[in-house]
Amino acid sequence: MRLLVVGAGATGGYFGGRLVQAGRDVTFLLRPARAKAIAADGLQIVSPNGDVVLHPQVVTTGQIAGPYDAVLLTVKAFALEAALADIAPAVGPGTMIVPVLNGMRQVDAITARFGAKALVGGVCKVATTLDPQGRIVQLNKMQEMAYGEMDGTSSARTEALHALMDGAGFLSRLTPHIAREMWEKWILLATLGAITCTMRGNIGEVASAPGGVAFATGILDEVLAIVNAAGIPPSEGYAETVRSLISQKNSQQSPSMYRDLSAGLPIEAEQIVGDLVARGAAKGVAAPLLSAAFVHLSVYQAKHR
Ligand SMILES: NC(=O)c1ccc[n+]([C@@H]2O[C@H](COP(=O)([O-])OP(=O)(O)OC[C@H]3O[C@@H](n4cnc5c(N)ncnc54)[C@H](OP(=O)(O)O)[C@@H]3O)[C@@H](O)[C@H]2O)c1
Repeated sequence: MRLLVVGAGATGGYFGGRLVQAGRDVTFLLRPARAKAIAADGLQIVSPNGDVVLHPQVVTTGQIAGPYDAVLLTVKAFALEAALADIAPAVGPGTMIVPVLNGMRQVDAITARFGAKALVGGVCKVATTLDPQGRIVQLNKMQEMAYGEMDGTSSARTEALHALMDGAGFLSRLTPHIAREMWEKWILLATLGAITCTMRGNIGEVASAPGGVAFATGILDEVLAIVNAAGIPPSEGYAETVRSLISQKNSQQSPSMYRDLSAGLPIEAEQIVGDLVARGAAKGVAAPLLSAAFVHLSVYQAKHR
């Protein structure tokens, strides 16, 4: 199976790199600056799971020769539309497009451009970031990739995808529940992002402030009300797990949106928070705390686009 990984940033560089390390047939689609840096320095991973420097196959837009079996889409939300245009030559009638983006907007964007059949659901659980030298730095040992047909059916193509992903050093799971898992990841990310970015502190710092736990659980309750009305409700116990997580005063938890905001980088405010507020509004679900968080993030976003 030939896989095209779009982007060699924190997630694409990490999972794509581990696949290259395991000898899988992987090519990266990169923009010129990143392609040049990787040609010069290699794809560098610094990780508690093992450091490595790799020299992967790379193409840039215009160099894509025919369709791939699968495309792993690892760009940020604000780069999605341009990336979908760029991958068009790599997408044939049998190509699977597997996004690892958080939120659910990518589902509509991929479906609109390539049809529902092209989409295979994906979730990645990892904490990675790019350092100033362009190295992919993994912040803890967690590393998991889950994927599957959005309607929960089994298929030969997702079995083939699993054969490619499996045994490459990270936990890989073919699941019939990928659509629900994508919604669950959104619940977690929207809740953590709205809490930490609005209050400018990690989860423990917010939970330790007067009224902090009430604010955090208020955000979670609004997110859950929206997802229950407009999406796929989480599995039993999921909401309570998140509730406990956001109430811990000693937690160092800091989602990537807060890490990006602290570094003055663009954030995925519309995809992670704004889209939820909009889906809630369309179903008549009021979300005053989340709406206030989105205003706050939008003001930041306007300054850091
Ligand atoms: N980082 C995490 O720990 C983590 C964990 C789980 C999920 N996620 C989600 O995964 C998604 C990706 O996040 P990330 O952290 O990997 O972002 P990132 O570090 O910014 O990497 C995205 C990469 O995509 C590249 N890119 C953008 N447009 C492109 C195009 N048209 N063609 C080729 N490459 C392109 C960028 O390259 P250049 O700008 O250098 O060209 C950049 O290196 C986000 O939705 C995020 O929420 C992240």
